Amino acid sequence: MKPWKKALKVGLVGATGVVGETFINMLEEYAFPIAELRPFASDKSLGVKLELAGKEWACQVLKPGCFDGLDMVFFSSGDDISKEWAPQAVKSGAFAIDNSNAFRMDQGINLVVPEVNGHLLNENSKPQIIANPNCSTIQLVVALKPLYDKFGISDVTVSSYQAVSGAGLPGFDELLDQTRNFQTPDHAAKIFPKQILFNCIPQIGGFGADGFCTEETKIMNETCKIMGDDKIKVSAFTVRIPALNAHSEAVWVTLNKPATKDEVINTLGSFEGLAVMQDDYPTAIDVSGEDPVFVGRIHQDRHNPNRWLMWVVSDNLKKGAALNGLQIAERIFS
Ligand SMILES: NC(=O)c1ccc[n+]([C@@H]2O[C@H](COP(=O)([O-])OP(=O)(O)OC[C@H]3O[C@@H](n4cnc5c(N)ncnc54)[C@H](OP(=O)(O)O)[C@@H]3O)[C@@H](O)[C@H]2O)c1
Repeated sequence: MKPWKKALKVGLVGATGVVGETFINMLEEYAFPIAELRPFASDKSLGVKLELAGKEWACQVLKPGCFDGLDMVFFSSGDDISKEWAPQAVKSGAFAIDNSNAFRMDQGINLVVPEVNGHLLNENSKPQIIANPNCSTIQLVVALKPLYDKFGISDVTVSSYQAVSGAGLPGFDELLDQTRNFQTPDHAAKIFPKQILFNCIPQIGGFGADGFCTEETKIMNETCKIMGDDKIKVSAFTVRIPALNAHSEAVWVTLNKPATKDEVINTLGSFEGLAVMQDDYPTAIDVSGEDPVFVGRIHQDRHNPNRWLMWVVSDNLKKGAALNGLQIAERIFS
């Protein structure tokens, strides 16, 4: 990361969640210059102390004026909290980087993956709400962008295999509980629609009248917004699997121009934030805890030579949430 212009005063809403925890770990990992960390969580976490930069910072609850004096606030505690409080952060003079779905498709709100459309932000940007895309969209667009720039893209089909950490700490706990008690005949599903242990669930979020579930709709809408091209035909099918962390995606992408396999591999391999694997392929376990988006199993379709298949894996808590948020901050403050 580039050097930062000044030590920042940072608010973190949802500090005790899985994304919040990853965000704090990444602030430490990247030696992010912190003048103040102001963590926020629910009433039950009031006063809980979180460690960063050799100091302890106590969790607060949200209340009027709670963002005063902050440079930026990262929101990671759900749509309703973001809807109510992100505008308050901007009123207090802070940038609100929002990890929820609340503002992503709003006109006039930037939906940013820095490697793809980071030009929307710079050091002269004024305090505003900036939306962090959905985790499964982020890794997809990082893999699509270099192909789009070099060859053009007409359509994309994606099938996802998503880890339980994408459903937050309760999702993580549900798989671990079911694993500990794997001999129990009935596993009560609370967070996921069905038992997740030993299973694959073809539903992430509720179903719309068109038969798509919300995760699929997010991927299809957000991809076009981030790529700045409504003409790309995106079709998504999302599946929750019993991986703990890191989302995997099988992607079929149709290019507008012919390309050789070497050209496709070199184009992907030279793009910032992408790591191409040729002799092996990435899996969720290998990639969990890593920063880049990994791509493997790149090969040409049998029936359409302009159509390419690839396997895209990334840590949903890092590039899919906290790292992308920090990279947004980097565009503004470094
Ligand atoms: N997990 C992912 O891979 C991922 C990726 C991209 C985006 N997101 C989005 O990030 C958000 C949070 O996800 P998560 O996975 O970190 O969830 P999580 O593990 O369930 O954490 C939720 C956080 O919100 C806090 N919270 C709950 N009620 C609150 C309130 N009234 N005021 C302030 N804080 C409150 C919780 O605090 P307590 O501990 O005190 O309850 C906790 O810190 C969601 O919008 C999710 O869609 C998640």
